[in-house]
Parts: sequence; structure tokens; C-alpha cells
Amino acid sequence: MTSPSTPSVIAIDGPTASGKGTVASLVAGALGFHYLDSGALYRLVALASENQGVNLDNEPALGVLAAKMAVSFSDGKVFLEGEDVSEAIRTENMGVRASKLAVYPQVRRSLMDLQRSFRMAPGLVADGRDMASVIFPDAQLKVFLTASVTARAERRYKQLIAKGISVKMENLLQDLQERDVRDSKRGSAPLLVAQGARVLETSELSIDQAVKRILDWYQSASC
Ligand code: DC
Repeated sequence: MTSPSTPSVIAIDGPTASGKGTVASLVAGALGFHYLDSGALYRLVALASENQGVNLDNEPALGVLAAKMAVSFSDGKVFLEGEDVSEAIRTENMGVRASKLAVYPQVRRSLMDLQRSFRMAPGLVADGRDMASVIFPDAQLKVFLTASVTARAERRYKQLIAKGISVKMENLLQDLQERDVRDSKRGSAPLLVAQGARVLETSELSIDQAVKRILDWYQSASC
């Protein structure tokens, strides 16, 4: 149990393109809570390591880089060493690279304190893969948000096309499936339904319906 002075956390985990980022930030907005997009941190390590020419098989160097990189978040934007990299970290390439370096325990350890530092009053909504299982095991509400792989690929396809990025559906499906396997089968903090988590299947739900369900669950959990 958390003490009354510890700010509340809602942990929302789920696979790639499950919509958890959109849903989590709307839940945070509705409650006036802070928001942590933990995937952005892994994507930042991916970008920083590419910029610095650090190889993906060099776990110690990636761990040091993750501990030392200067990151900040402001007005919904992400900065690396003072540069706005909000768009640069969102590419499919950075997502795949992030998933590959996220298997390393040294990288995960380096990002642990940074993630926990987002827990501030009046509360936090945190999304990722191990928010409920590892980073905030005492979260007031744990949600595992998911959708079928086809629904997720279609959502991602529409997002990318809307941004003017051309992409083939079959490549997208294959990337998603490979990332699902890598994120779920790794030894360190794999994606899983944490003990006590409630599963929210969103293939047939609108964003508003998913947000409302989580707000209702949070209200019942806080009573
Ligand atoms: O949520 P995302 O697609 O932005 O995350 C990118 C990658 O980062 C994801 O494939 C796995 C990794 N990740 C992780 O291992 N643990 C987290 N808490 C968040 C993301």
C-alpha cells in the first residue's frame, strides 16, 4: 500500500500501437495528473546512440548513455541535449531500435530513477511495458491496454499516412509482430499483464470509451 502522502499512479501497459499513449495522456488531462510516456525514453536512447555512433550490441555503452543523456519534457515536446526531437524519435526506425536496446538490463536500470521522478502530486499516469510490474508496482490502478494486431496495424497505418509518411501495410504488420515478440519474450521486464492489472481490449472501443472506462475504474479504486 502507498502512504497517503505518496502521489497516486495509474499504470497503463500494452503492446506497440495499442493506443495507450493517446488514452493515457487523455486520462492524465482529465484528472489534472502528470504524464509519463516511458517509451519516449527508450526512443531517446535509440536516437542518442545513433547520433553518437554507439552500436546496438554494446550494452555497457548504451547503459552509460541512458544514464547520462540530457532529456527534458516541456509543453508536450521532448528535448535531447536542448534540441527538440519530438518528431525524430517517432519514426518506425527509432521504435524498432528502441525495442532492440530495451532488452538490456543495464539500459533499463539506467532509466529507472528518471521514470520514478515523474511521480509528483497530484498524481501520475504512466504508460509503457513495465509500469505496473517493475517501475510502479504499488500503482493504485493497473491497466493492460491491448487490441488485435490487425486493429493496431490499421491504426498505425492511418497515423503515418496522415503525417504524409508512406508505408506498406504488410511491412507494418511484420514490424509490429516482431516487436511484440521481442518486447514480450525478453528476460528483463517483459511486457506482461501484471498481477492485479485489469485488461482493456480496445479493438472495438473508441478512444473516448477507453478513457471513460479507465476513469471509472480509477474512481472505484480510489473509493
Ligand atoms: O511505446 P513505444 O512504442 O514508444 O516504445 C518503444 C519501445 O521501447 C518498445 O518497443 C519497447 C521499449 N519500451 C520498454 O521496453 N519499456 C517501456 N516501459 C516502454 C517502452
